[in-house]
Amino acid sequence: MQKVFDALIDGYLLDKVGISENFLSLALSKNLKENLVKLFEEKKLITAKTGIGNETNLNTAIRSDKIFWLDRIHENQHENDFFDIMDAFVLFLNQTCYTGITSYEFHYALYEKGSFYKKHFDQFKSNASRQYTMIFYLNTDWKLADGGELCVYFKDSSQNISPTNGKSVFFKSSELEHEVLLSHAQRMSITGWFRVD
Ligand code: OGA
Ligand code: NI
Repeated sequence: MQKVFDALIDGYLLDKVGISENFLSLALSKNLKENLVKLFEEKKLITAKTGIGNETNLNTAIRSDKIFWLDRIHENQHENDFFDIMDAFVLFLNQTCYTGITSYEFHYALYEKGSFYKKHFDQFKSNASRQYTMIFYLNTDWKLADGGELCVYFKDSSQNISPTNGKSVFFKSSELEHEVLLSHAQRMSITGWFRVD
């Protein structure tokens, strides 16, 4: 995995956003997607909120995705495989980039047709624990016309990233403003944050 980690971080250092096409294996992406589809069918996904602590808002004008938190407690083989990779990546980040990451959190996200997430930063003003954002897209057969791009904003420009299957994106949570453009198809991903607590 060392080479894959290196390539992602090289891209991040160069462009403020690192993109990898082979961070998760296609088999693991497929298994995680199947988990998410099952959770959706079983109506276990919850409408995502914005904010933190006592200031959470069910603000569907800002975001309209549905989520479910991954956890080793589920004893799901594929979630555990995912966490094993994240553990290795945290070691890599701390050893090579001195990031001091102490924990992480990841949730499945499902954007139904017509969903979006307006422009935002991932780090809360009241709690700066979230250091780095990472997103894994699980959409096989995604078409350009399906929209749903992740749009990342730089000082004088922006970049649209299509949420195609197997793609992973990494950026600094406090640094990069971003949004999820209107999705015209069901859009699935895992999103999470590497934290310093
Ligand atoms: C988020 C987010 C982007 C994406 O969940 O905070 O910005 O592409 N997600 O799903
Ligand atoms: Ni975000």
